[in-house]
Amino acid sequence: MKRNFLFAVMVSFLTMTFMSYASAPKGSEATIKDLKAAITGESTASAKYAAYAKKAKEEGYAKVALLFEAASKSESIHAGNHRAALEQLGETMGKVTPKYEVKSTKENLKDAIKGESYEVATMYPGFIKTANDNKVNIALISFNYAFQTEKKHKVLYQHALDVLNAGKENTLASKYMVCPTCGNTYDGEAPNRCGISMKPKDRFITIE
Ligand SMILES: [Fe+2]
Ligand SMILES: [Fe+2]
Repeated sequence: MKRNFLFAVMVSFLTMTFMSYASAPKGSEATIKDLKAAITGESTASAKYAAYAKKAKEEGYAKVALLFEAASKSESIHAGNHRAALEQLGETMGKVTPKYEVKSTKENLKDAIKGESYEVATMYPGFIKTANDNKVNIALISFNYAFQTEKKHKVLYQHALDVLNAGKENTLASKYMVCPTCGNTYDGEAPNRCGISMKPKDRFITIE
């Protein structure tokens, strides 16, 4: 009887200890909601850009296809980072079913610019402010990695559209380098250290 009681006390103590580590810090509910929205957004963007890459190849735009492939890889890194942050807060999220539509490459580029613009102007600045207010540092880092990268994606997509409209697709980069830590995307050669996360260049993913 006494042994059973001791055992029960031990189990409840261990459960409480585990829960205090696994559960989210008080006041982080809004950031958890934002992380889930960001996982949906980044997973969808990654799948969509992979489909846009396939379409660009079909239309004979091999260099635009490379850009979409690099960005797709980058967005999957963001989704993975956000998932890791969410798990550290004691939460998980099921697989995302992406919803998107594939049109012509020019239309797809316009859609990509629209998506990146929303993330840069509205979504991530809001998420970053909330994570900062909630003092959830891991989410703050993850959101900032994505925010800094999406700013670059927006510029790369706009440039690709301009060049395509001018009939000069061949002037686009024939190689991209993606940082495996933050998703930072370089058209051409990356510097020795990632400009966002300081990851050494020899760890980068090359898309060519
Ligand atoms: Fe992006
Ligand atoms: Fe990086």
